[in-house]
Amino acid sequence: METGAERITPFLVEGAAARPVGSDIWSMLPPSSPGQPYDRKAAVYDALIGSAWYNRFIWGADHRSYAGFARKALGSAAGRHLDAGCGSLVGTALAYVETAQSGSARPCLFVDASLGMLRRARARLGTLPPAAGLLQADLRTIPLRFEAIDTVLCMGMLHLFDEETAAGILARLRNSLVPRGALYLTSLILGRPRGDRFLDLLQRAGEIGVPRTREGALAIMRQAGFDIGEARQTGNMLFVVAARR
Ligand SMILES: C[S@@+](CC[C@H](N)C(=O)[O-])C[C@H]1O[C@@H](n2cnc3c(N)ncnc32)[C@H](O)[C@@H]1O
Repeated sequence: METGAERITPFLVEGAAARPVGSDIWSMLPPSSPGQPYDRKAAVYDALIGSAWYNRFIWGADHRSYAGFARKALGSAAGRHLDAGCGSLVGTALAYVETAQSGSARPCLFVDASLGMLRRARARLGTLPPAAGLLQADLRTIPLRFEAIDTVLCMGMLHLFDEETAAGILARLRNSLVPRGALYLTSLILGRPRGDRFLDLLQRAGEIGVPRTREGALAIMRQAGFDIGEARQTGNMLFVVAARR
């Protein structure tokens, strides 16, 4: 791989190939792969998820808590950190920028399938910390290195996937974590009438999988090999800290 790849390769199995596709962004997807759904949704996504009103009114959640949760993950260990499905970092860039400014040299890898979202993430990070990399890859197939990562942050992803896909992705993330490494995960779940109705609409529009209950979301994490340490629900948003069993 070319210069700059050293930011990415420690997270991947030996010999995994990625190619540069833009300013500090690499890709594992074939050049012929079609655009990703979030490429065209990026601007709307940012407007909604960055909105205090949308998060409070629809999901009963405080949008500032997303950066707080990311800060907690970043402050919990010193080694490699993976943001799995980082999106545009609309809610969490601040946590990464502050962590880098505080002198942390944690190697961070930001993974998302959408180049449009990654470009926005890259812009939000400003000066890229020397040990950070952005990678376009599919979490269903990404060849993560075994027991190489200390923390995984996976926010707003689980509810997108059906049971089988979610289980596969969680198992992959689990195997990438060092023993007792931590997964910090958020997911939309059932639990509040207005949000539940919205989840139903999103599912019918094909935007998300079948909405889960809190127990359903925790069960799939346990089955994938995680011990649940903390599970907190605010409105329709579930915040989980779990350790690799
Ligand atoms: C709801 S957004 C969450 C983004 C970010 N974590 C956040 O909290 O704002 C979901 C993200 O998952 C990405 N995504 C969906 N399926 C994916 C997959 N199979 N592999 C990698 N990324 C995926 C989308 O491109 C999108 O950026």
